Amino acid sequence: MNKAAQFIQERLQARADSGSLRKLSRLHLPVDFCSNDYLGFSRSAVLKNHIEALLLQIPNLSTGSGGSRLLSGNHVFTEETEAMIAKFHDAESGLIFNSGYDANIGLISSLAQRGDTIISDELIHASLIDGARLSHASRYTFKHNDIAALEAKLKLATGNIYVLVESVYSMDGDLAPLAAINACCKHYGANLIVDEAHALGIFGNYGTGRVQELGLEQEVFARVVTFGKALGCHGAIVLGSPALREYLINFARSFIYTTAAPLHSIVSIHAAYQLLAETDHTPIITERIKQYSQAVEIAGIAHKPSESSIQTVLYNSGIKAKSAAESLQQKGLDVRAILSPTVPKGSERLRICLHTYNSNEEIQTLISQLVLLKQHE
Ligand SMILES: Cc1ncc(COP(=O)(O)O)c(C=O)c1O
Repeated sequence: MNKAAQFIQERLQARADSGSLRKLSRLHLPVDFCSNDYLGFSRSAVLKNHIEALLLQIPNLSTGSGGSRLLSGNHVFTEETEAMIAKFHDAESGLIFNSGYDANIGLISSLAQRGDTIISDELIHASLIDGARLSHASRYTFKHNDIAALEAKLKLATGNIYVLVESVYSMDGDLAPLAAINACCKHYGANLIVDEAHALGIFGNYGTGRVQELGLEQEVFARVVTFGKALGCHGAIVLGSPALREYLINFARSFIYTTAAPLHSIVSIHAAYQLLAETDHTPIITERIKQYSQAVEIAGIAHKPSESSIQTVLYNSGIKAKSAAESLQQKGLDVRAILSPTVPKGSERLRICLHTYNSNEEIQTLISQLVLLKQHE
C-alpha cells in the first residue's frame, strides 16, 4: 500500500473505531423528522405546478447555464430574481451563489484581509468557519451567545472587524441574541454578518427571517439566506449594499470561478419566493414547534430549549444517540443522530426537525417513543 492509501485507511479506521464513521444513507422513512424541508416546499405540488408554469414562460430555456455568471452564465431572469428576493428581505441588493456553503466561503474569505479581524460564535456553521480560514485575517471565537465574551474579543480586534453569527443555530436550534449582538458590534464599529439559513420561513412576517423580525435589516452589514431548507430548493443569496454586491462579483472566488446554476434552478427559487410571499406559513410551523416543546417538557426528556423547528434530544454518547435513532427508525420515524465531530464529544444528540406536514399524531408518537427509550436506557 502506498503512503497516501495507508493514510486514508488509517483515518477511516480511526473514525470506525470511535463509532463516528460517516456513511451515505438511502434511508427514507414515512415520517420525516429529519429533513430541513420545514414548510414542505420541496414536496409541494402547488410549488411544482407553479415552477412548471414559470418555466414555460422562458423562451429557449437551456439545460445548463454554459459558464460562470461573469461569462455566459448570467441571465436577466437571475438578476430580476435577485432584486425580487432583496425586496422581500428589505435589503438594498442581493447576489445569488450556488449554495450556502459557497456564499459563506466567498463572502468571508473575500472581505477579511490581513490585519482585519473575524470574531465568530463558537457554534457557527462549518461554511463560515471555512470562509474565515480561507481569509488572512486574525480569527477569534467567543462563547456561544455570550455578549460579554464577544465584547472581550472586540477589545482585542484590529482593522476591519467582522462578527459572524447564525440567527438560528443549525445543531441546537437556539436563537442568537441578535439585538444585543448588534448593539455591541455598533459600539465597537464591527460589521455584523448573520447567517439566516434556518430562520427563513420560520421567523418574521411571512418567514422573512429573524433580522427583519427584530427590525435590524438596516443595521446588519450582510445576511446570508439559503434556499435549501425552508424554501425547498438549492442555492443562497448574500444580502447587503449594492457596493457589497459589486465587490463580491469582483472578489468572491466561489462566485467567480464556478458555473452558474442552471436557469430552471433559478426559476424554482423565484417560484418558491413567490409562494412564501403569497401565504404566511409561520402560524402553522409555530404551532407545531409549540406543541412539540410543551410535550417534550411535560415528558421530562433531556433537551436544549428551542423556539425553532430544530429540536434536540441529548445523549451523552454517540453510541446511545445512534442506538436511539435506530430504534425510532424501526418504528418508521425518520430521526437521525448527530455525532462528534459535527457536535462536541459528549453532546451527541438526536436532531429532530419539525415540519408543517408533521401531524399531531406523529408528534405524539415520537414523544411516546422517546419516553420509552429513556426508560430503557
Ligand atoms: C447555518 C448554515 N449555513 C450555511 C449552510 C450551507 O448551506 P447549503 O446547504 O446551501 O450549502 C448550512 C447548511 O447546512 C447551514 O446550516
